[in-house]
Amino acid sequence: MIKKILFVTSEAHPLIKTGGLADVSGSLPKALSGLGVDVRLIMPNYQAIKTTEEIFYKSTVRVNHIDANILETRLPGTQVLVWLVDCPEFFDFPGNPYVDEQGNAWANSAGRFALFCRVAVEVAMNRSYLDWTPGIIHCNDWQSGLVPALLSLEASRPATVFTIHNMAYQGLFPKSTLTALNLPKPLWNPAGIEFNGMLSFIKGGLAYADRITTVSPTYAVEIQTADYGYGLEGLLSHRNDALTGILNGIDLGQWNPRTDPAISEHYDISTLNKKQLNKSALQKKLSLPVDINIPVFALISRLVEQKGIDLVVECLPGMLALPLQFVLLGRGDKEFEQQLSRFAKTHPDKMAITLGYDETLAHQLEAGADIFLMPSRFEPCGLNQLYSQRYGTVPIVRKTGGLADTVVDALPENLGNKTATGFVFNEATAGTLMEAIKRALLVYGQPEAWKQLQATGMQQDHSWHKSAKDYMALYEKLVPAGR
Ligand code: ADP
Ligand code: GLC
Repeated sequence: MIKKILFVTSEAHPLIKTGGLADVSGSLPKALSGLGVDVRLIMPNYQAIKTTEEIFYKSTVRVNHIDANILETRLPGTQVLVWLVDCPEFFDFPGNPYVDEQGNAWANSAGRFALFCRVAVEVAMNRSYLDWTPGIIHCNDWQSGLVPALLSLEASRPATVFTIHNMAYQGLFPKSTLTALNLPKPLWNPAGIEFNGMLSFIKGGLAYADRITTVSPTYAVEIQTADYGYGLEGLLSHRNDALTGILNGIDLGQWNPRTDPAISEHYDISTLNKKQLNKSALQKKLSLPVDINIPVFALISRLVEQKGIDLVVECLPGMLALPLQFVLLGRGDKEFEQQLSRFAKTHPDKMAITLGYDETLAHQLEAGADIFLMPSRFEPCGLNQLYSQRYGTVPIVRKTGGLADTVVDALPENLGNKTATGFVFNEATAGTLMEAIKRALLVYGQPEAWKQLQATGMQQDHSWHKSAKDYMALYEKLVPAGR
């Protein structure tokens, strides 16, 4: 029987994106649909959604005294159906899913996502006039956390999967929110959505979902420890039997140096020398001295503590004294933005920084750079190290989460047996990052070894092929409850 799966997410590329969750929500459903699954997305109808696909009105549901329309469209360029929860009083504002135009978190975040979850539950229960009964509801991150919790109160319900993309974001709100949102009282207990006297959206997923997944095997182990569990390590160890790590894949169509419309010159392993043309185009675009011999380091990231940006800032004086160029694209914490801008201003011949969100430039950086920096303090999976490998841009990563699972360190033996795909360091300190940078420069100075490192990365299979099958295997084991 064909599985019917409702995929609940707060962002999906190319409709709207703030980070890797959108990449996964835009590509995993496509891969599942390729395996014969009837998968449909549900997400809020934000003002900022961009699409050229048609959008139709489907129905109106009333939840907690609020009317919400359900609109139907498709993931652009695919047959995958998307239902947009349209409620202008919550979502028809400029800004992104989590912050307003000024970058401040939405004051009514809890209300926005509680409404979204309630509508998703109505769709899950086939009570929203869409005439479709899913067998599995696949939720992602705290914004969808109330869905498994609310479904647990239904006598007969679909099975639920909750995927953790990041334990650092939990959707914690004051206890008064429970009453303000009129949430069912039975959910309020320490084994439920209560967390240290606060209302926790993510616990709705962690406590009530039939299965929990996260986006790499290493992160699945890490989050059961105090260093990575953000206070929920006990609950996660308790649910150990229900928890698995499935590595993210990437969209090979969108991230392909052979066809990428954003880059100057297409290339693959057999034409790797053409990568240099992308490098000079990038240097020119960013007003850096054009020099194909100087190694270009890149970083594309949300500028937040998770990503080890403080380590990069600490390394910068040493780094900029070396023969290299550094290009950075990101936005986030104002303090990081200011610190990084100051370095770029005082070293205009070595460092170029773009503060903002720019999909096209992200592709150009991947194609034009030699080395990619990803010194994350924690990284559930990470996608840029995978995009980098595919573009022959060698990643430097900290050994954590998905980075540990996807990058093989360029130790002499790994270089010798042609398995190395990057540089890996252990401690989250500026000193160890700097050592890794120097190691990378040494190998960069050996053209044959460098080429091999690039080629091995480019040959890795990071498609959804295997992971989508792992999700399928997980879905196969699940059965709706009480039916
Ligand atoms: P996270 O989801 O924690 O931000 P990932 O590595 O999983 O980290 O995914 C980040 C995604 O967001 C990648 O596709 C990356 O290219 C993209 N990205 C991050 N910052 C920017 C930016 N400033 N401009 C364009 N793309 C960005
Ligand atoms: C999160 C994580 C990142 C992961 C992405 C998609 O935002 O920080 O590591 O790749 O989700 O799963």
